[in-house]
Amino acid sequence: MNVCVVVAAAIVVDGRLLLAQRRRPAALDGLWELPGGKVEPGETPTDALRRELREELDIETEAGERIGVEVPLADGLVLRAYLTEIVSGIPRALDHAAIGWFSAAELPAVDLVPNDRMWLPDLERALRAS
Ligand code: C5P
Repeated sequence: MNVCVVVAAAIVVDGRLLLAQRRRPAALDGLWELPGGKVEPGETPTDALRRELREELDIETEAGERIGVEVPLADGLVLRAYLTEIVSGIPRALDHAAIGWFSAAELPAVDLVPNDRMWLPDLERALRAS
C-alpha cells in the first residue's frame, strides 16, 4: 500500500508558535493546527510544505528538521511536522478561519486538533529553547 504523507509546519518567531484555525471538516471546525496539507504526486514532502504554506498563508518558507513523531492517520496517511522558517511575507489566513501566535505557556490551553496534540511536548520544548 502507498503511504501518503501529510506535512505540517512548526513556525516559531520570537518565542511564539504559529497556529491556524480550521474551518472544515465540521468535526474539526474551530480547532487549531500546524498549517500544512497532503503531499501531491511528484512532490517531495518539503516541496509540498512550501506550496501549502504559500497557498494557505501567503508566505515563502524553508523546511528544516523534523519535529515530533510521525502520526498515523486514517486511510494510510501519515502526518509529519517540520520546524519551518519564514523566508518572506507576513502570514495571513487565506484558507483558515484565523491564525494566531502562542507561547509555550499558552499552548496547553489551545484547542488543538487531536493529531497535533501528540506534538505538544516537542512544541513546548522548541518554544522554550527559542
Ligand atoms: O488540511 P487537510 O485536510 O488537507 O489535511 C489532511 C489530513 O491531515 C486531515 O485528516 C487533517 O485532519 C490532517 N491534519 C492534521 N493536522 C495537521 C494538518 C492536517 O491532523 N496539522
